[in-house]
Amino acid sequence: MSLNLVPFVSVDKMMKLVLHIGIERVLMDLAAEIEADFRRWPQFDKTPRVASHSDVGVIELMPTSDGTTYGFKYVNGHPSNLRRGLQTVTAFGLLADVATGYPLLLSEMTILTALRTAATSAMAARHLAPKDARVMAMIGNGAQAEFQALAFKAICGIEEVRLYDIDPDATDKCARNLAGSGLKITRCKSREDAILGAQILTTCTADKNYATILNDNMVGAGVHINAIGGDCPGKTELAPAILHRSSIFVEYPPQTRIEGEIQQLAADHPVTELWQVITGETAGRTSASQITLFDSVGFAIEDFSALRYVHGKLAATGLYDNLDMIADPDDPRDLFGMILRAAA
Ligand SMILES: NC(=O)c1ccc[n+]([C@@H]2O[C@H](COP(=O)([O-])OP(=O)(O)OC[C@H]3O[C@@H](n4cnc5c(N)ncnc54)[C@H](O)[C@@H]3O)[C@@H](O)[C@H]2O)c1
Repeated sequence: MSLNLVPFVSVDKMMKLVLHIGIERVLMDLAAEIEADFRRWPQFDKTPRVASHSDVGVIELMPTSDGTTYGFKYVNGHPSNLRRGLQTVTAFGLLADVATGYPLLLSEMTILTALRTAATSAMAARHLAPKDARVMAMIGNGAQAEFQALAFKAICGIEEVRLYDIDPDATDKCARNLAGSGLKITRCKSREDAILGAQILTTCTADKNYATILNDNMVGAGVHINAIGGDCPGKTELAPAILHRSSIFVEYPPQTRIEGEIQQLAADHPVTELWQVITGETAGRTSASQITLFDSVGFAIEDFSALRYVHGKLAATGLYDNLDMIADPDDPRDLFGMILRAAA
């Protein structure tokens, strides 16, 4: 393949790729890829994502490199988009060869972000949640919800998902999409109803606010909390008292301290880095009564792993197009002369 032609995975090709492989298989594969990259965490360039905030949302760039391959994601978060018929989160991303700087892949990442977020959550829960957890509360039934539910089924063995959203249409949509998945789906009328009997509590709401999706009295001993929606300054989902009772696990502390639930705590409040649990350097869950909290904000290495996974599927599936994205003058210094080719 010519280096000026960059493989591009469109939304259409991504949908076909996911269906071709099977969504639960993709979620399991991604969890394995992300876990493998978390194991070699020190090899990566790491930086908190570069965020441009406005009154209504945020646009972020998420770069990382392992010294051989570079990747970045462009992603937005606009809770008010829903009222305009637009998505809260959209994304695309790129992989490049560190040796030449030439791009290797450009891909849609709106679908891929939902997949990698769910895979990361379930991978974290496999290390932190009670081993016998079979019931998950799913509060917030928007774009991410079905992906979360299926990842917890495939990776953690969850059998029942208890759905709640302030908008019953969202719950209906989610229940419809999960019908036939093998999960028992229970529609709930309140947050309190949703958490009944659940060993895993997932919060996945979108509001540019210090929201209280879980109150302190809703969180009993021994549960695992998978907090997805609080991922921006001024945007959280948990009552601070819950954080004081929990063992808190994060992706990259310098980013999570700004964006995660822990922005509500003192800057030196102890947290554990998830990668150290995965390598065995630090303990995860140590007792049955412990409350574990994965304070997820989404980190660049997860996107890197996901992009590399997609890149690895191109040759066998052919599910990409070639983009004429990089100039290719016959003489590398004759960029100007190359323009004249268009006149021929
Ligand atoms: N941590 C990560 O890696 C990561 C990745 C992707 C998205 N997110 C975040 O997850 C959140 C959800 O994303 P999405 O794409 O599903 O958004 P979405 O807008 O599609 O869905 C959000 C849902 O939350 C519901 N909701 C809002 N307030 C609620 C409340 N008080 N109680 C119950 N439900 C409520 C809405 O009705 C909506 O159905 C967003 O905040 C997004 O920024 C985090």
